[in-house]
Amino acid sequence: MGPLWTTRERHSGLIAWLARHKLLRGHICTSPSSSSSSSSTVDSNGRDRVINLDHGDPTMYERYWQQTGDKSTIVIPGWQSMSYFSDAGSLCWFLEPEFAKEIVRLHKIVGNAVTEDRYIVVGTGSTQLYQAVLYALSPPDAAEPLSVVSAAPYYSSYPLITDCLKSGLYKWAGDAQSFNKEGPYIELVTSPNNPDGHVRQSVVNKSGGILVHDLAYYWPQYSPIAAAADHDIMLFTVSKSTGHAGMRIGWALVKDEEVAKKMVKYVELNTIGVSKDSQLRAAKVLQVVTDGCKYPTSEEGSLFDFAANVMEERWKLLRAAVRQSGLFTLPEFSPGLCRFLNSSFAPRPAFAWLKCEAPIEDCEAFLRSNKILTRGGKHFGVGPQYVRISMLDRDENYDVFVQRLSTIHLRQSMQVDETVQ
Ligand SMILES: Cc1ncc(COP(=O)(O)O)c(C=O)c1O
Repeated sequence: MGPLWTTRERHSGLIAWLARHKLLRGHICTSPSSSSSSSSTVDSNGRDRVINLDHGDPTMYERYWQQTGDKSTIVIPGWQSMSYFSDAGSLCWFLEPEFAKEIVRLHKIVGNAVTEDRYIVVGTGSTQLYQAVLYALSPPDAAEPLSVVSAAPYYSSYPLITDCLKSGLYKWAGDAQSFNKEGPYIELVTSPNNPDGHVRQSVVNKSGGILVHDLAYYWPQYSPIAAAADHDIMLFTVSKSTGHAGMRIGWALVKDEEVAKKMVKYVELNTIGVSKDSQLRAAKVLQVVTDGCKYPTSEEGSLFDFAANVMEERWKLLRAAVRQSGLFTLPEFSPGLCRFLNSSFAPRPAFAWLKCEAPIEDCEAFLRSNKILTRGGKHFGVGPQYVRISMLDRDENYDVFVQRLSTIHLRQSMQVDETVQ
């Protein structure tokens, strides 16, 4: 394996690049001729490349896992993992005991969720567990489908998954803030939220609601860990915690035995359990993460040190680019104390929720015309002036993205120059 760039090296490289092209604050070229000559060399690296930041694909984490080498490797002989069953006598009979043990170890060291007196249900990604929760919470013989709501902007997959089979059990009912129907409902609380990164609480102020907490991003690289979450139903995933989206493993921590049993039933009906190979690999990955927190050895530190540093740098660069461009705004966050990292910092979410300022009306289309693919606000229940941008892509894509964003106005002014001349 070749030498890896440290975050600091990449950052100083980009700072040097920004300075060279007079894009840092204090170096802004105001004369049209100098701005056009700057922008003609800007982006020479990757100018025509389409940068796709539509999906939250967590490839940023590859760099960390490469340097763990054999520590995170498992070998599965041909005869292993053959039975459907992992732990036949337990409530979640397809949950690998080794994986369950590592889930508890990880939550205990990070302090982000209470695991005592909870059932663990494993799923093929937390996407499957979301569906299992809807099935488990819906009364089988209700007169009409149970309403499912979440405050906008909400995770764009919720409405699609909820309604894809046109179930008679449950139905997407939109933005929780304007929900006023009588009767029972499910409110999804995603905290920190996808897409805007804010820490959230339930917003529907009515009786008869059941809360489901999607805590996919409640990890210290994204958000200060203020306290151990202690909700009735909590969903987690390796996709955003360790970056192993392709393993398709998630887990639910569930207080109520009957709810947990029904979730298990759903996974049984849906996929007859969850890949044992993936669970064994997930157990190894979580073990390496927890050991890395307990006994940090590598230069990168623990997974959370690594990812926290990358996110911190990326957000700094993004904010600088947004300031430079003058066309966009980003959400602001207040710092909070993280009991795991023992420091105070502002959230550094996995997505940037970017707003195009007037006169740009369709931010997704505007960025697409600049070869940056994002997901527009309408998917999240809000207007087209917003887009969601993944912050978890590989370094080379992120760097081209942030460089390009900072120069959009320069290229536009260059076009204006050319038209005038
Ligand atoms: C809030 C939230 N929940 C769930 C998921 C899906 O996770 P998984 O890959 O485990 O299905 C995502 C993925 O982007 C997400 O953002």
